Amino acid sequence: MAGHSEGPRVLKHPLCSRLFHWSLILGFLPAAATGFIIHLKPGGADLVNLAMKIHIAGAAVLTAGCLLYAVFCLSRVVAFVRRSFSWDDRDIGWMLVGGGYPQKMFLGKKIPVPPMGKVNSGQKIFGICLFLSGPILILTGWLLYAFIPLAPKAYINIAWHIHLLLGLFMGLFLGAHIFLGVYNWGEFKAMFGDGTQPLAECEDHNPVWVAGDIRPVAQAGRDRHLSA
Ligand code: HEM
Repeated sequence: MAGHSEGPRVLKHPLCSRLFHWSLILGFLPAAATGFIIHLKPGGADLVNLAMKIHIAGAAVLTAGCLLYAVFCLSRVVAFVRRSFSWDDRDIGWMLVGGGYPQKMFLGKKIPVPPMGKVNSGQKIFGICLFLSGPILILTGWLLYAFIPLAPKAYINIAWHIHLLLGLFMGLFLGAHIFLGVYNWGEFKAMFGDGTQPLAECEDHNPVWVAGDIRPVAQAGRDRHLSA
């Protein structure tokens, strides 16, 4: 947004969250892409074997990222879950107008939307889906990896179906997340840069968060704000 790059900035994504996000990108994206290859078998056995190796490497990165984040940044995980599951009337209003995105994208019109906190209702739905399906996807994946020769066939079959369905579900959801993550360029620059966003931009996107949850700090001669 013009004029928003100047002035005080807010730390929106601390280093541990940005590193965790990188582990999701480097783990989940290769695992998802190779998951499709393993399932659809578009080439020969060599391609499927290679895809399987990449799938397991991606799963290992994803699992390690999730475990490290849960152990070393538990407060961020708690904040993420609390935010995702906090709903009120404003979320209904936000959903009814699709967050104003269709009007902005297709009609070039900015309509008023209910004020949001640190995340909007769409991001909350994404968070809930990730929180509920991610651990099951990871667990069923390692179950399939370790126990195919040992466990009863019926259990393996159930785990395989759950793994496939959740993988597809998350893969599709992620398409929308990546599109909107790039579309909201200010958010993208914060997540993939130093984690900060101009205060003016946050006042526009996250007015409830700015009003109640951030505090000013003086740091290295720059005006910065931190979330409480
Ligand atoms: C190139 C691919 C990706 C891009 C461009 C991208 C972009 C972004 C951006 C801009 C944000 C901050 C704004 C927001 O919350 O929407 C974000 C947050 C988030 N992304 Fe991604 N993302 C990518 C891949 C992924 C993957 C693969 C996952 C999970 C499997 C993921 C999960 C998340 C989560 C959980 C958050 C919220 C973090 C928080 O609340 O602190 N992202 N992403």
